Amino acid sequence: MARLTPVHFFSHGSTMMLGEESSSADYWRQCGDEALARGIKGVVIMGAHWDCHGDQIQVSTNPKPNKSPVAYVHPSKYVSYSLNPDLPTAQRCIELLARENFRVTPNPTIDWIHDVYLILIRMFPAACPPTTIISLNARYDPHYHLKVGATLRPLRRENYLLIGTGGAVHNLYRNRWAPMLRFRDNFAMEKAPEPWALEFRQSVEDVLLRTEGPWLRRAMTRLMKHPQYRGAHATDDHFMAAMFVAGAAGDWEDEGKERMLGAETWELTNMCNSQFTVGVDGVV
Ligand SMILES: [Fe+2]
Repeated sequence: MARLTPVHFFSHGSTMMLGEESSSADYWRQCGDEALARGIKGVVIMGAHWDCHGDQIQVSTNPKPNKSPVAYVHPSKYVSYSLNPDLPTAQRCIELLARENFRVTPNPTIDWIHDVYLILIRMFPAACPPTTIISLNARYDPHYHLKVGATLRPLRRENYLLIGTGGAVHNLYRNRWAPMLRFRDNFAMEKAPEPWALEFRQSVEDVLLRTEGPWLRRAMTRLMKHPQYRGAHATDDHFMAAMFVAGAAGDWEDEGKERMLGAETWELTNMCNSQFTVGVDGVV
């Protein structure tokens, strides 16, 4: 039986993670190299910046998407990078999701946002692999997004790489922005991260590294009831990708698989960009 691809939960952080070097950027590149070495068919990715209202969810089908511009990053870092929409796989994802009674439609006009293309550029600087983007639903129901991941999980068997790009600790209102705004220094740490950020960051690690199979799913959804959750996430958008990942790598079949915290980069004092890989089925 074909090996399952691993699943990544990446914390994309601020836009400056595209322009500045970091251990997270190195890890993204390593994961990209490993994906190419195994000959992935494509990437299926859920981000944090595209959500749909009402009951619906959408899948990107724009054949020629533009890139939303990013602040504080030189255009040379992203403007010339060619995006590679995977329209057949988008249709496949729509069919898989519709079969599980999601209200799902194609979106032929959506432009790609940095939560997705920042990661793709870092992972695959030479060329973007065929990629399908799955939207969020703006009700931010953890179980809904977990089920999206579970529904698309079989694609791992077909050598698609599933990625959630959000954040482990990501509360823009509690970041310390002054060093970035004054000196373009997003990594400045004039003070240690605050206790609520450290506490929630540890809980995310505990869930991803110490639970497995359906227990991962249960623990991940429960993190939204953590006493420090609202401090760590003023809005829910950057944590839905974690639910997608738990769904995609939280089957009984995923029990016993390796998982790792591959890198971690703190930005803006209180934003914790942890990079996890789970569901590793033998050699990556
Ligand atoms: Fe973001």
